[in-house]
Amino acid sequence: MLSAAAAQAPADSAQHEAAATGVADLMVAAQFRHIKIWFAGKLKNWRLAAYELDLMKSKLQEAAKMSVTIQAPDLTIKPMQSLREAIEKKDSGAFATAYTELTNACDACHRAIDRGFISIQVPVTSPFSDEQFVDQIAEGRALARSECGACHVVSENANEVSALRFPAPSFPSLARRPALTDESLRQFLLSNHRNLGHDQAMPNPRLAEYQIEEIVAFFATLRGGGQ
Ligand code: HEC
Ligand code: HEC
Repeated sequence: MLSAAAAQAPADSAQHEAAATGVADLMVAAQFRHIKIWFAGKLKNWRLAAYELDLMKSKLQEAAKMSVTIQAPDLTIKPMQSLREAIEKKDSGAFATAYTELTNACDACHRAIDRGFISIQVPVTSPFSDEQFVDQIAEGRALARSECGACHVVSENANEVSALRFPAPSFPSLARRPALTDESLRQFLLSNHRNLGHDQAMPNPRLAEYQIEEIVAFFATLRGGGQ
């Protein structure tokens, strides 16, 4: 009886701790970041991945400081370092490996503090339907170069000359037109404007909706003076 009660004690006191100090809430905050890091890295939005990694790290540090249960050395430090290196190198393979190691380290701690029932895995689908994990601006710039660059000068780069030297206005000059708002650009890219202007005027680029949003995001950076 006595030994059973003693075995029970750490879990009970930790439960007490979690409720009293909010360690579990900090863990949920870290968990959100853990998920976001995955989708950002998977879609090669390396700046977002680095940003979320910083936030996750500080939440885990806060939790460790607050907790009296956490005594084991923090096994997440090494995989977090590897993850940072993979993100800096923009290396998708190394990213996936380091992420899996990190996830295993989350659970190693949970098991060490008798919380083996809290089990973390590499996320399958994003619960954040309101957040895009791609870097819209970078995608928009790449798309503009590949889909529009034959006719338009895409960015304020003196060396860039549209391949066909078409009578197409440059994107920076278009972006400065007051009449060209996000909404009018969307409408323009959605419509068939084959009849716009002269005969060789622009064909409908037939972009998907998410691609249109990427172009719109990229144009917004041109309005701000270029990036
Ligand atoms: C050094 C130890 C340690 C590490 C590392 C750790 N945790 Fe935790 N985790 C805890 C503690 C302590 C609790 C609170 C347990 C309790 O309720 O008593 C907890 C609880 C949780 C919970 C449950 C919270 C809830 O209410 O649902 C989740 C989810 C969680 N951790 C996610 C993670 C993730 C994701 C990582 C890795 C990125 C991680 N943890 C790394 C110690 C750790
Ligand atoms: C085949 C050449 C060609 C391609 C490819 C092309 N454009 Fe154009 N675009 C033109 C020409 C020519 C005009 C000028 C039409 C005119 O004023 O008669 C133009 C005009 C525009 C305008 C100004 C419309 C207005 O209201 O005056 C925008 C915005 C634009 N293009 C965006 C794009 C985007 C974004 C892409 C890539 C997804 C693209 N274009 C691809 C030839 C092209």
